[in-house]
Amino acid sequence: MNPTPPPTRSSIRTATTDDARPVAALQIASWRAAYRLDLPETYLQSLDLEARSGRWRDLIARPEIEVLLAEDPDGLVGFAAFGPARDSDLDPAGTAQLYNLHVDPTRWRRGTGSDLWNAMIERLGGRWAELALWVLPTNRRARAFYERRGLNPDGGRQREPLAPGVAFDEIRYRGALPPRPASATE
Ligand SMILES: CC(C)(COP(=O)(O)OP(=O)(O)OC[C@H]1O[C@@H](n2cnc3c(N)ncnc32)[C@H](O)[C@@H]1OP(=O)(O)O)[C@@H](O)C(=O)NCCC(=O)NCCS
Repeated sequence: MNPTPPPTRSSIRTATTDDARPVAALQIASWRAAYRLDLPETYLQSLDLEARSGRWRDLIARPEIEVLLAEDPDGLVGFAAFGPARDSDLDPAGTAQLYNLHVDPTRWRRGTGSDLWNAMIERLGGRWAELALWVLPTNRRARAFYERRGLNPDGGRQREPLAPGVAFDEIRYRGALPPRPASATE
């Protein structure tokens, strides 16, 4: 039997454009581990670090998007990207969206995803009333993680094309965000 790994606390900070390359590398590693049964192997192997780094440089630079990094002494171990909801049926003033949440697959179930989640909720609570995100129905690990944190499927479905003949069929999760604490002033 494998021993349970000890929880590791990571430190959280906001990404800068200099972080784009490690973020892209971690996302590729996470996709290859998490989606190996959902996406063709040839597509997963074709994911290009340079192209993805450029995309992350642009995303991190956008003022409406926040990218949080979880780091330990060895470097990046996870990241979360979030901002206003992008779906046409949601009000971006009232609903935030978690666009990406990825933890280094060698570090799953050690608390990093929870650290990122808690830091994100702290930033979103009071600014938005609810949070939405898209997830693959087969992604049981992520769905359980979100359900334990109060989100549930809201009936939304979409097909996101990734490449010719390759797509993500996703379902939407949604849940309330905590109100601003009574003591908070701004
Ligand atoms: C989903 C994901 C972000 C979760 O990250 P994580 O770092 O594994 O999350 P945590 O370790 O904080 O929590 C996972 C579970 O392990 C538990 N856990 C954490 N440390 C633990 C430990 N030392 N021993 C036993 N269990 C532990 C947590 O309590 C949690 O269970 P809960 O949800 O019932 O509370 C991660 O699995 C991932 O990156 N998946 C691939 C990408 C993905 O699917 N992203 C979501 C796309 S929508």
